Amino acid sequence: MKTMLVTGGAGFIGSNFVKHILGKYDNYRLVNLDALTYAGNLENLKEIEEGQKYRFIKGGIADRELVERIFEEENIDYVVNFAAESHVDRSIEDPEIFIKTNVMGTQVLLDVAKKNWVTGKDEFGYPVYRDGVKYLQVSTDEVYGTLGKEGMFKETTPLAPNSPYSASKASADMIVRAYNETFKMPMNITRCSNNYGPYQFPEKLIPLMIANCLNEKELPVYGDGMQIRDWLHVKDHCVAIDTVLHTGKSGEIYNVGGNNEKANIEIVKLIIKTLGKSERLIKYVKDRLGHDRRYAIENTKITTELGWEPSYTFEQGMKETIEWYLENQKWMDNVTSGEYKEYYEKMYNK
Ligand code: NAD
Ligand code: TYD
Repeated sequence: MKTMLVTGGAGFIGSNFVKHILGKYDNYRLVNLDALTYAGNLENLKEIEEGQKYRFIKGGIADRELVERIFEEENIDYVVNFAAESHVDRSIEDPEIFIKTNVMGTQVLLDVAKKNWVTGKDEFGYPVYRDGVKYLQVSTDEVYGTLGKEGMFKETTPLAPNSPYSASKASADMIVRAYNETFKMPMNITRCSNNYGPYQFPEKLIPLMIANCLNEKELPVYGDGMQIRDWLHVKDHCVAIDTVLHTGKSGEIYNVGGNNEKANIEIVKLIIKTLGKSERLIKYVKDRLGHDRRYAIENTKITTELGWEPSYTFEQGMKETIEWYLENQKWMDNVTSGEYKEYYEKMYNK
């Protein structure tokens, strides 16, 4: 039995990943550490039972005492760090929590893992680690900054993050990299493109547009709507992380992309069409500050070296995603009550 510490496992991608791992493997105990911020929701995991294979712990990754206690109580072999403040617009309003969680939290996880995993030193003084341990940092293509009409992000593209969110993720990547260089920490970093699928919090483009369409509310498109993102189904992303964790070469960074570039306005129109609504709902609003124009991922490293590739077409993925939101309107109502209502008023009715 191996034990995996998953952080942020009550969020969008994390909850999909918890279900992926527990559904696929019999030989894992999974410990989920999540602070349950506005984005974390235990309802996302309601079918998972606490027991020998699964334990939930409410708390923050920057809480060193708590993380130390978890490592004392559990024999952790893998850390998969999803926990983060993840929304660019919120990082523009209030950057500080992004640094605390995304940067400081990552450093605490690395440090406690190192303390627990090191068994001695080699002849040069570098730490030696227990067999079979690894730290995986879930990062983003946004660390590379923005592209013009041509080109794609490679793993070797220099980091040039533009928002407080992406700057915090790039900082975390740098710290993970430094732990590998200086302390030989066994690690991987994955940098994926925009995810979509079930359980995504409706502050993000796709679920926000679905929710507003269903409620006949205006669809706020930033600027000219021609910004381009590469879209990846969350289930494909979970398989990619599983693949990198188990077969990725330690110390390596892997880009994860869906080969699926779309302009925002195309997506909004697709959602309108699928739900049988009118394009009159579209409202072009003031652009996001520092808005990245285009993201595109070159993913040949993970496809050729590790044999992963996306399985969803965007058409199929979007069809299933829209159906999921239609069938789970209660989930949507629950997560959009309270704090989210205030956030929406503040951001969109300025
Ligand atoms: P999310 O906002 O849906 O979930 C984040 C989760 O982390 C929540 O459950 C939240 O409660 C938890 N959390 C926040 N602060 C915490 C803390 N201090 N300690 C413990 N838990 C904490 O985010 P997501 O979309 O699922 O993204 C997961 C990861 O993937 C993030 O690291 C994000 O940067 C990265 N990522 C996301 C996307 C995307 O399109 N969603 C794309 C690329 C990379
Ligand atoms: P988002 O889902 O916030 O992801 P990210 O900024 O991490 O790529 O936004 C995706 C794109 O959609 C981005 O170009 C901003 C745009 N967008 C809108 O036009 N309107 C909105 O209300 C939101 C939330 C996003």
